[in-house]
Amino acid sequence: MNILVTGGCGFIGSHTVVELENAGHEVIVLDNLSNSSKKSLDRVAQITGKTCKFYEADILDRDALNKIFDTEKIDAVIHFAGLKAVGESVRKPWEYYNNNITGTLTLVDVMRQHGVKSIIFSSSATVYGEPAFIPITEECPKAPCTNPYGWTKSMLEQILMDIQKADPEWNVVILRYFNPIGAHKSGLIGENPNGIPNNLMPYITQVAVGKLKELGIFGNDYDTPDGTGVRDYIHVVDLADGHVKALKMIEQNAGLKVYNLGTGKGYSVLDIVKNFEEANGIKIPYVIKERRAGDIAENYSDATKAKEELGWVAQYDIKDMCADSWNWQKNNPNGYDE
Ligand code: NAD
Ligand code: UD1
Repeated sequence: MNILVTGGCGFIGSHTVVELENAGHEVIVLDNLSNSSKKSLDRVAQITGKTCKFYEADILDRDALNKIFDTEKIDAVIHFAGLKAVGESVRKPWEYYNNNITGTLTLVDVMRQHGVKSIIFSSSATVYGEPAFIPITEECPKAPCTNPYGWTKSMLEQILMDIQKADPEWNVVILRYFNPIGAHKSGLIGENPNGIPNNLMPYITQVAVGKLKELGIFGNDYDTPDGTGVRDYIHVVDLADGHVKALKMIEQNAGLKVYNLGTGKGYSVLDIVKNFEEANGIKIPYVIKERRAGDIAENYSDATKAKEELGWVAQYDIKDMCADSWNWQKNNPNGYDE
């Protein structure tokens, strides 16, 4: 298929471009480079031996989108483009709602005007809020989000579902990611956060590389086996493969589909520290800090539905995730900057 990947220069997008090309699809990337580097696509080409088309464009720019859809033959869109920093979204709600929601509304409008009615959308386990039950199945009710970023995901899910309901020619596949970490085995592409990382794994790898002194663990008094927060970490290459498998639903004209993408296993913050140390032979100094506002104790998926309907099962374990995250960071201490 010919796939337009919005946000294809970013962390999950670049890994998905690799898996799409390896599966024989033609890829066109659109990105405004607001949180990424075009160099990621040069690295992708090194891995796959193929170059994809690239448009530096914004999903808010209707004229630019029209040009791309006029020029390219596009069968489906995999839509990663969006702002994703939770803390920043609390300070800049307008920017988040405008970029993520107005941007997606513009994209979807241009798509339908060009007769392209298939989209795979990057959602998040954040839509479950404080989950009603664990492991979380897709039937778990959505709950209030604790920040504007989370609300953009929850609202966009609803918007896309309503659009599909009103016009059943649409295929909408909503993928709810748990916690993506890891990097491509080559160490050529990986996560490249701006400034001090908010998320656990990039923080750990920056401690390991000597950029940060020690990890702060946000609370050890949760109702979990060791008191630290439990999450469902998933290797980004498995996540990328989930998108390739999800194209099957578009080929089958399946209408609306919602899947969790997780491993179904929960690991605590201390489990991650221990596995990182064992996988890489590096000590990670840490201190226990206050709980972080908005955090929940425990969150992991039931990934049965993706297995049964997509034939997708995560292949990589926690040691692979820790080793691959470190392989990327140690080879690229400043990300894509020289
Ligand atoms: P990322 O920031 O690395 O990638 C997003 C890409 O979108 C970037 O390359 C950025 O430059 C681009 N972009 C942003 N706004 C744009 C716009 N208006 N027009 C064009 N391009 C734009 O983030 P990621 O981790 O790869 O996440 C990809 C998607 O998955 C996002 O929608 C994110 O919210 C979602 N998601 C991520 C996680 C995670 O933990 N990384 C978890 C759940 C969901
Ligand atoms: C966070 C976001 C979620 C988003 C996801 C993207 C919040 C409340 N949630 O999820 O919306 O989709 O990132 O990956 O921000 N931790 C530490 N020390 C650190 C960093 C994290 O102890 O320096 C702990 C956290 O308290 C948590 C676990 O590590 O228990 C994972 O944190 P993180 O990687 O930020 O992911 P989430 O909070 O699950």
